[in-house]
Amino acid sequence: MNVDPSAAFDATLLPPGLAGADLVAIAAEYGTPVFVYDEDHIRQRCRTFAEHFGRDGVAYAGKAFLCRAMATLVREEGLHLDVATEGELHVALHAGFPPERIVFHGNNKSEGELRGAGDAGVGRVVADSFQELDRLERLGYPGDVLVRITPGVEAHTHEYIETGTERSKFGLSVATGAAMVALRRVVESPVLTFGGIHCHIGSQVYRLDSYARAAAVVMGFVDELEVVTGARVPLINLGGGLGARYLASDPDLDVGEYAAALRGAVGDRPLMVEPGRAIVARAGVTVYRVGTVKEIPGVTTYVAVDGGMSDNPRPVLYGAGYEAFLPDRIEAARPLVATVAGKHCEQGDLVVTDAHLPADVAPGDLLATPVTGAYGYSMASNYNRVPRPAVVFVRHGKVRPVVRRETLEDLERLDVDDRTAAIRETGA
Ligand code: LLP
Repeated sequence: MNVDPSAAFDATLLPPGLAGADLVAIAAEYGTPVFVYDEDHIRQRCRTFAEHFGRDGVAYAGKAFLCRAMATLVREEGLHLDVATEGELHVALHAGFPPERIVFHGNNKSEGELRGAGDAGVGRVVADSFQELDRLERLGYPGDVLVRITPGVEAHTHEYIETGTERSKFGLSVATGAAMVALRRVVESPVLTFGGIHCHIGSQVYRLDSYARAAAVVMGFVDELEVVTGARVPLINLGGGLGARYLASDPDLDVGEYAAALRGAVGDRPLMVEPGRAIVARAGVTVYRVGTVKEIPGVTTYVAVDGGMSDNPRPVLYGAGYEAFLPDRIEAARPLVATVAGKHCEQGDLVVTDAHLPADVAPGDLLATPVTGAYGYSMASNYNRVPRPAVVFVRHGKVRPVVRRETLEDLERLDVDDRTAAIRETGA
């Protein structure tokens, strides 16, 4: 592991298919910032999960990164797909994703969204509240209904992405008895089909013991439910959350060990997981162009790039750390400790604090951040009216665009023309 900060960039953070890719040529053709993905690496990660859980035991979590090409890839790899909103569902269906292999999540699904999912043939819905159970019963939801339960277990991750504790807005608590009431209702319902139990303790989780503890609570609950109702629980879905290696010093978790930790608790019962980050994080790299370099003696050197919190809000939201490298001199020593800043009108808009860079970094250089394949493009915004970047897939030495760059015209596409706007009385 690379621990000397001035040493060259640790290229093991890159997916194999991008280590030799000509990021300079890609940036020249598609502009910057650009998200570049190693398509074979994504496929490889899908296969690794399928190997350990079976294809029917893995639902890729689309929130990490979704577009039509990604949905198509997941379909080709034979996995299931987790969607959290009707927007994600829409993209999946338009990509021809088989609806019966979709799991529909969210803590506030409207009756309209649930009706749409049912009409489309979405195979599984995970209910998150008693109101959703009311809605599903009213609709006579045609697919399987799971219930999300809260095990009361800490995931040891950032509090904003921790979801398994009693304070969580997600799920129904095992400890308070709410989970049992909800599950009995589904099992005993004359109109609903009981699809199983769901639990997701959080994201960017490094500690496998957190999973083992949550799984143990879930299994205790499963046993009790089976005794109380006499029903067999058809599926145990333990969510996603396996952490990714962002920094050279971060752990690189093994999917096999993760599977073993879950299997240890669940035994040979039908099990599903929902990895998002663990499938796409390392596959993606963001390539920016440096515009200015500003040295403030005794403070830091700001290296400003042409993106920032609009393409990667994770540093500002969670204090997430990244590494940086210059694509045209990946192997150069990096003695300069600098702050890679974005171009947004906020001091907090920093892409990398304490980035290690070659001392001669200068305006015009390309600068890349690895491991940006998850929750980067999917959380991108138009803040400061910055158009969202392009996304390209690299495979077998070839590059293809999968999401085009937004144009300045795109930024106005929702604006209503003042000359034709329908103006009405407010009714006040
Ligand atoms: N299943 C459920 C029900 C989830 O809520 C999530 C993530 C996943 C699966 C996938 O988790 P993953 O394997 O990707 O960790 N924006 C945050 C992450 C939010 C995760 C939300 N739920 C970040 O950038 O760290």
